[in-house]
Amino acid sequence: MSFPPSQHVRVAGVGAYLPERVVTNEELSASLDTSHEWILSHTGIHQRHLAAPGESASSMGLLAARRALEDAHLLPGDLAMVIVTTSTADYASYPSTAAIIQGNLGAVNAGAFDLNAACAGFAYGVAMGKCYCQAQGRPVLVVASEVNSRILDWHDRGTCVLFGDGAGAVVLAPSSRPGMLHEVLGADGTGAGYLVREAGLRTPEDILRPPGFVRMDGRAVFQFAVRAMENVIRRLLSETGHGLEDIQHFIPHQANGRILDAVARNMGLAPERFFRNIQHVANTSSASIPIALAELRRQGALKQGDLILTVAFGAGLVYGGSLLRWEAEG
Ligand code: ACO
Repeated sequence: MSFPPSQHVRVAGVGAYLPERVVTNEELSASLDTSHEWILSHTGIHQRHLAAPGESASSMGLLAARRALEDAHLLPGDLAMVIVTTSTADYASYPSTAAIIQGNLGAVNAGAFDLNAACAGFAYGVAMGKCYCQAQGRPVLVVASEVNSRILDWHDRGTCVLFGDGAGAVVLAPSSRPGMLHEVLGADGTGAGYLVREAGLRTPEDILRPPGFVRMDGRAVFQFAVRAMENVIRRLLSETGHGLEDIQHFIPHQANGRILDAVARNMGLAPERFFRNIQHVANTSSASIPIALAELRRQGALKQGDLILTVAFGAGLVYGGSLLRWEAEG
């Protein structure tokens, strides 16, 4: 079977999955030197969902993927590629979480690979997925799935209160009209030390160490995040000839409400223009944007022709975003 390359690509379906267990700030305060007031005032977070022992990046991602395919009215066999963005893969090296999802989904005509750009993974995933969809003229599934709870030091109040678990997915499909309009990706690797998971194989002895936790210079990451998000938004708009007022939905990575307030202030934007669900999901890393997109989709808030701007940053340090037009039909 041969398929012509497709000029345009749209987001044809969205899905998400959040684990059932909800942990409130009050519950965390019972075992940690913190308080609901501190967490809420410093981050905007009320609660987070945490994965059950039997759940993993692949099992949560599979559920989000099925929902996205259903939303797109497509079958697993239609897919040309399964891309999974995660920092908490089922296996440290291989097999990829994407291969596990591809197998469990029955996406028999698709390739599969994982992509790690930390919390900006989804921005990178859709940019790569768009290219492959265009080249092959067939749909691509991008899944973002994170079990952050497994890499947190639950004694470190500076990090563990910030994150949650969950998965989101989109199906990118060839389209007669432009849906994915523009992408911006970037990095500043000189800041790699600011946000690190202490696990890896830099020396032979590392194989003997216990799996490491997330360590972060919160202030440095905060400052980078504000600069990077503003930069991505300005570039997406200026490179497509749009203004702030043209955008119906700003969907930022949900890392900290105060970061969003600072970006809004710097850009002269009302803070409520940024979609927020951080209060009930916390920071779900690369899954945060597709989870937010699925929430808006479920609410019926995405209307034909709406312009959606997504923007994220993450460990690396990396950043990225995309400008989409919501095209309900291809
Ligand atoms: N409860 C109570 N007190 C706390 C807590 C907590 N959970 N965490 C830190 N504190 C204390 C600190 O110990 C410190 O106390 P001290 O003054 O006695 O030393 C005080 O609060 C201030 O600590 P700071 O770290 O300076 O607090 P800050 O106002 O910078 O807020 C935060 C910390 C929320 C982490 C902020 O820096 C931030 O959000 N940074 C960005 C983090 C981020 O976005 N990370 C993810 C990036 S990418 C990705 O998503 C993987």
